[in-house]
Amino acid sequence: MDADAQKRAAGEAAAALVESGMVVGMGTGSTAAWFVRALGARKLDIVGVPTSQATADLAASLGIRLGELGETREIDLTVDGADEIGPGLSLIKGGGGALLREKLVWEASKRCVVIADAAKQVKTLGKFALPIEVVAFGHKTTALKICDALAECDLGIAPMLRRKDGQAVRTDGGNLIYDAACGRIEEPAILAAALKSVTGVVDHGLFLDLADRALIGGPDGIVELEP
Ligand code: A5P
Repeated sequence: MDADAQKRAAGEAAAALVESGMVVGMGTGSTAAWFVRALGARKLDIVGVPTSQATADLAASLGIRLGELGETREIDLTVDGADEIGPGLSLIKGGGGALLREKLVWEASKRCVVIADAAKQVKTLGKFALPIEVVAFGHKTTALKICDALAECDLGIAPMLRRKDGQAVRTDGGNLIYDAACGRIEEPAILAAALKSVTGVVDHGLFLDLADRALIGGPDGIVELEP
């Protein structure tokens, strides 16, 4: 199975966890898209809460009823992809730029299932550059403060403003993203707290103590992990 087939298998396995009547958080990215497609094919009576405009558009095209965070009752189950899955189901997310809405939906959910291909599993987080979402106003000053926060965690690196086609990438919320190529994140909780303490940082892509289960597609089928 190639990576896309693994993502698809994980998405389909997660869609099988959904029952009629549920409020379902729907993640963003290529793996989450497989989940949304499989969910749409089941024609269940559910309300989907999307974590990005792209996911909202896909779900709507499949006839999935949409709700907004806070407009529905608590989310029963959220399913989403990840850029890295580390020990204890610690995650790096935000490669697709939807980390803030994703974290808001994850934190409002009774259960969160992360789905991925096997390449996403790592022994130590950090090879994938950590996305950090910042408000646009004064972002260069905020980036310097982020450098200080990273240095406090023995990470002497400068985060890079995310660009596409020469233009700074804007999130669905109109913010900017800096990517920090940490290499190895030995103490994710300490780094998470340091980043959150910087004024101007909206959030970061470390998702700690949030995933209840992982469904990882591999050459021999789905592997299930718990924290
Ligand atoms: C979106 O912002 C991300 O958090 C995605 O969940 C993550 O980048 C995984 O994406 P893929 O499923 O496309 O690898």
